[in-house]
Amino acid sequence: MEFKRNIIVTGGAGFIGSHVVRLFVNKYPDYHIINLDKLTYAGNLANLKDIEDRPNYTFVKADICDFDRIMQLMQEHHVDGIIHLAAESHVDRSIKDPFTFARTNVMGTLSLLQAAKLYWESLPEGYEGKRFYHISTDEVYGALELTNPEGIESPFTTKASSEHHHAYGTDFFTEETKYNPHSPYSASKASSDHFVRAFHDTYGMPTIVTNCSNNYGPYQFPEKLIPLFINNIRHRKPLPVYGKGENVRDWLYVEDHARAIDLIFHEGKVADTYNIGGFNEWKNIDIIKVVIKTVDRLLGRKEDEDMDLITYVTDRKGHDMRYAIDSRKLQRELGWEPSLQFEEGIEKTVRWYLDHQEWMDNVTSGDYQNYYDSMYKDR
Ligand code: NAD
Ligand code: TYD
Repeated sequence: MEFKRNIIVTGGAGFIGSHVVRLFVNKYPDYHIINLDKLTYAGNLANLKDIEDRPNYTFVKADICDFDRIMQLMQEHHVDGIIHLAAESHVDRSIKDPFTFARTNVMGTLSLLQAAKLYWESLPEGYEGKRFYHISTDEVYGALELTNPEGIESPFTTKASSEHHHAYGTDFFTEETKYNPHSPYSASKASSDHFVRAFHDTYGMPTIVTNCSNNYGPYQFPEKLIPLFINNIRHRKPLPVYGKGENVRDWLYVEDHARAIDLIFHEGKVADTYNIGGFNEWKNIDIIKVVIKTVDRLLGRKEDEDMDLITYVTDRKGHDMRYAIDSRKLQRELGWEPSLQFEEGIEKTVRWYLDHQEWMDNVTSGDYQNYYDSMYKDR
């Protein structure tokens, strides 16, 4: 079958990638979606069970660092678009093992860029109609200060904002904010962002970079705060809160991120950058309490029964205090609006994890569990 577009999505078996693949496969039956994923501990084909037999979907197990393989796939599938999500994505792992982050996030991105460059430049039409879309994070901007620890009424809201509408400072990351990464994870993502922009500026490749805030929702690997804590509450295991639990993150439901990626891939301006977020700031300790209340209610436990699972532990090294994204450019220029209010999103998320215990057991068993235990042993 001849497809209208042939798009490689890297990291499609991971958390955000699986939502992007599902959205594109369902919404664009005339696009061929090639999910290229190495299936590291974070990649799981069970995330895509519902669409794996679709005629417009192909899975390829490959490493983005394998330049020859990427080159061969570009040629074989006449690839005209790349949506790049594959990465090592967990800050705590980057503190333990920064080399893996430099390899995948920096060298892997470079290998994709170089393969796309050589393939697209070999075509008669060159870069016309092509797109290299790189998914990045707000963590590259560094950390904002907690100037209002009690929270103030946020000057901005979206449909994703929580009912409490809090901001914990008066400044936000905009597309003009200077990069200032602190963790090996954010340093590797910043480096990859620079390479992507350099390929536009040097070779004229049609690139786009977006920087999104913390995502939550189904299929997130349970090393990240929300799924880890939901699972621990269910099993009445301690909830390790780093430091005083005062750090602030800006949370967006993953399907709203995927919808933004769809919009920007099709309508975003080449060489431009968009920040993605829903103006939904939460102190860790407050979001943890919401998660405990929701799990207890949905499991029919007594209200606040599991609050005593909260266990303050040694802080993460170099722990960024506050992230807060200003996404008004994306709203203004492309009309993006998140669809799900935070209170609805968290209810849906907790319900999903409680209903998918088998998925959770599967990803927390065996090798992963051993690695996880050894990682936290000497924290
Ligand atoms: P994830 O860890 O859940 O998934 C990463 C995927 O990439 C996995 O399927 C893994 O198998 C694959 N992968 C890893 N190394 C690979 C390699 N060398 N070759 C091929 N595939 C490889 O990550 P996520 O949370 O879904 O994040 C996806 C992207 O979005 C990342 O680039 C991340 O930096 C960015 N991002 C994440 C968040 C968030 O809150 N999770 C927020 C903003 C941006
Ligand atoms: P995380 O989900 O790892 O995302 P990121 O570090 O990319 O923001 O962590 C979210 C916040 O929760 C962050 O401030 C660290 C904190 N945290 C804990 O307090 N305990 C935990 O066990 C984890 C995983 C995170």
